[in-house]
Amino acid sequence: MTTIPTETRNATEPQPADPEPGWTRRRMLRALGLGGATVVVAGTGALGYRVYDTAALSPGRGDAYDPWRHWRDTPGLLGAVASAVLAASPHNTQPWVFGIRDQAVDVFLDGTRNTGTVDPLAREQHMGIGCAIENLVLACRARGLRPTVTLLPGERLAEIVVTADQPVPSRLYDVLGERHTNRGPYEDRTVPAETLTGLVDTAGLPGLAVHWIADPTPRAALGRLLVDAAKALCDDEQQSRDNFAWFRSDNDEIQRHRDGLTLGGQGFSPFVLAMSKLLPASSREQGDRFWLKQTATVHTATAAAYGVITTRTPDDRTTQLNAGRLLQRIHLTATSQGVALHHMNQITERIDRERTTGSAPTFAPRFAELLPSGAQPLLTFRVGYAVRRVGASPRRSAAQVTR
Ligand SMILES: Cc1cc2nc3c(=O)[nH]c(=O)nc-3n(C[C@H](O)[C@H](O)[C@H](O)COP(=O)(O)O)c2cc1C
Repeated sequence: MTTIPTETRNATEPQPADPEPGWTRRRMLRALGLGGATVVVAGTGALGYRVYDTAALSPGRGDAYDPWRHWRDTPGLLGAVASAVLAASPHNTQPWVFGIRDQAVDVFLDGTRNTGTVDPLAREQHMGIGCAIENLVLACRARGLRPTVTLLPGERLAEIVVTADQPVPSRLYDVLGERHTNRGPYEDRTVPAETLTGLVDTAGLPGLAVHWIADPTPRAALGRLLVDAAKALCDDEQQSRDNFAWFRSDNDEIQRHRDGLTLGGQGFSPFVLAMSKLLPASSREQGDRFWLKQTATVHTATAAAYGVITTRTPDDRTTQLNAGRLLQRIHLTATSQGVALHHMNQITERIDRERTTGSAPTFAPRFAELLPSGAQPLLTFRVGYAVRRVGASPRRSAAQVTR
């Protein structure tokens, strides 16, 4: 018998109901959310194996997290690629391949690394490539390599030609290794309007704008839309399956794939994280229910404001790549100012799903009501002051993604 005391600290932690018997992760989290009680786990032998299997007591260790430790030390263009791989990407698919030449880096799309019906028009995939390009540009400048970016149609999506220059350090480059998607609770504190405005720099990225939704009424309306979209996604079996396919449930899988979504990226407290790793892996249905509950009780309930990157040309690949660059720039700026950010794209994922299946559009008109006339949404995220910091997600190394 092992007795594990619960934490009592955060009332906004998930408290999902679970009709299933046994100590699933969700039941454990519910028990933890109740606080004050004591959770008793039987069977130390099995528990011991699970500790090893999920690396519960040493989150973020192992080769899969090595890229977060070495990106600064690697010189030249390989170092720029080592910085690029730390970028955000949809479901941590890392859909990129880099080709290093003498004075240039080519960025290719690996179309096999996709989220299927979650991103049926491959828009998020291209925006993920844009995120990597932004990191690459910052890292070239920091290494005394002046980059010129040319975006291209086709499988080779970008060419970054460099010339020798003075190193240009930047605050955004400095926090490259500290940027993480924060899915945990945020404090009950507004982010000042001037701080929100200061997060956005669209220089060199034409045709894009950011619409902030911070006032209580539209913020609540967007929160409801996000919950409804999450529910619609879970109710759509194919989308639910495609969503779940990128979830890595144990340390073995994480170290093997070095990609995907992990428990460590869910914004739990260290205690809840360690406990949730010890329990049997969740099924797709449990994962869906857990995500829905988190969306309602943590993500939307504690969002200080939402940002929406909009454009009038949402289907244009160049616009999508630039939107990814803008997203990464916003996230790095936010990180440098202590503002947390969580990408939340289920509404546009439903819009694209309805569009590609020929269903009547339900989410597009509701989202349009919250946006300036004619502005089409590309990316949605929430910001706020986080209750806690979150850990890194796994990455393939620069060498693994370089041709
Ligand atoms: C285009 C794009 C769309 C994303 N959509 C979501 C989303 O809807 N929900 C979410 O929790 N994270 C989303 N993410 C965040 C990724 O899951 C995250 O970047 C990835 O898991 C790597 O983790 P990191 O950002 O902490 O490095 C998105 C990221 C990108 C670039």
